[in-house]
Amino acid sequence: MVKICCIGAGYVGGPTMAVIALKCPNISVAVVDISVSRIQAWNSDQLPIYEPGLEEVVKKCRGNNLFFSTDVEKHVSEADIIFVSVNTPTKTQGLGAGKAADLTYWESAARMIADVSKSDKIVVEKSTVPVKTAEAIEKILTHNAKGINFQILSNPEFLAEGTAISDLYNPDRVLIGGRETPEGKKAIQALKDVYAHWVPVDRIICTNLWSAELSKLAANAFLAQRISSVNAMSALCEATGADVSQVSHAVGMDSRIGPKFLNASVGFGGSCFQKDILNLIYICECNGLPEVANYWKQVIKVNDYQKTRFVNRLVSSMFNTVSGKKIAILGFAFKKDTGDTRETPAIDVCKGLLGDKAMLSIYDPQVPEEQIMRDLSMNKYEWDHPIHLQPMSPSAVKQVKVTWDAYEATKDSHGICILTEWDEFRNLDYKRIYDNMQKPAFVFDGRNVVDMEKLRQIGFIVYSIGKPL
Ligand code: NAD
Ligand code: UGA
Repeated sequence: MVKICCIGAGYVGGPTMAVIALKCPNISVAVVDISVSRIQAWNSDQLPIYEPGLEEVVKKCRGNNLFFSTDVEKHVSEADIIFVSVNTPTKTQGLGAGKAADLTYWESAARMIADVSKSDKIVVEKSTVPVKTAEAIEKILTHNAKGINFQILSNPEFLAEGTAISDLYNPDRVLIGGRETPEGKKAIQALKDVYAHWVPVDRIICTNLWSAELSKLAANAFLAQRISSVNAMSALCEATGADVSQVSHAVGMDSRIGPKFLNASVGFGGSCFQKDILNLIYICECNGLPEVANYWKQVIKVNDYQKTRFVNRLVSSMFNTVSGKKIAILGFAFKKDTGDTRETPAIDVCKGLLGDKAMLSIYDPQVPEEQIMRDLSMNKYEWDHPIHLQPMSPSAVKQVKVTWDAYEATKDSHGICILTEWDEFRNLDYKRIYDNMQKPAFVFDGRNVVDMEKLRQIGFIVYSIGKPL
């Protein structure tokens, strides 16, 4: 029986390995992590991440050919193929701070693999890493190898949160990069054989290591760039009376452009887009390509502009002050169908409103109070490092309340901000909400989920991204 071990039981490691276990009953899969609480949760009824369809897969395989453990060294030493899916955050200190990827977790995983291995291994980069990381990892492994052969592969993950299971079942492509030597090709084939259990072979593409590493950063940069492009257009729509949904539709009908990823929003969030573009920028700078770096910087600048623009619009619409006013925040996760709040635009919007002394009442169907309070207390990029909490100032604590119901959150409020496109926000009883709000009652829709006309008929003053005012 082939044995797989995955280091890192996070948003990627957990779902990816669960699907491999489900699709490959002849493979034994162990997912290991240094976080005891995370592994405990994977072994419980309350999984550590919310992802539609995940629980069913885990329940089917756990204890059969899928195991979650903190015994990292044992499972690594027994495995034939080791996936490394640890976090690769943006550096907060030292050379490249605020841009470069922090490979501390990766390097310590590589050193541990070298230490405990007693047989040949295929080591697979699953984390998103800078181009040429495989070379550094190869050095660490081979210089500590004690006669063992390590083959490094790059196999970046393209799943999106909220649709992880269906993305894994039916990927657009699986990308495998490896050395073009006989041993490298053999390793590529071994990993290809794993995916070939369920992915059509013409969707498994093989490249050299550096192309695979760079393709992942490029794919995320292209996706984020589409969102910044449509968000830049949304500002122009508001200035001219065009409607961004109509513009996106018309543009996306061009088969060369395509309709996906053209939804204007309050800004993109999530753990990866910003981190990976910053990483790309740093690599360009290090390679003497400042013009290329500047091109990609704009994608992040427009995203920041979009969040600031949203806060400014809200404050200016509410007679230039939100001081002491209750603002209901509907949605805190970075997108629907996930409880993940890493780099969610809601953090920046809430911090902007708190700076203007608003009283916030926050509701998200999947994000607990503790997580919201923690997010609002943290500095940028700290979420992916051992936590250094800045205690929230006593006044900020008083300014934030978290509720478990949209009606409670909006009661007596002056305005509503929709920051995540949860389906339930489309179907709320807005008449009931309006009746319980202060007047004039404002709605600021950062995700274009509400029917503006209907809400205006009820009496709301409505602002939606990229829509005629
Ligand atoms: P995560 O923070 O959810 O999970 C990483 C896990 O690795 C954590 O549980 C951490 O405790 C563990 N870990 C760190 N060092 C370890 C070590 N030495 N030994 C054992 N465990 C260790 O991160 P994630 O969202 O799963 O992302 C992982 C990687 O995948 C990142 O590089 C990310 O860019 C990439 N990625 C993420 C997504 C996504 O949707 N989240 C999608 C594609 C790629
Ligand atoms: C993204 C990519 O889609 C995945 O392919 C990639 O594997 C992953 O990053 C990663 O490397 O981590 P994810 O961040 O989970 O996945 O979610 P997306 O669906 O890409 O959404 C990212 C952000 O963009 C969200 O805040 C979302 O609301 C926003 N978005 C998305 C828009 O504002 N408009 C759109 O049209 C699409």
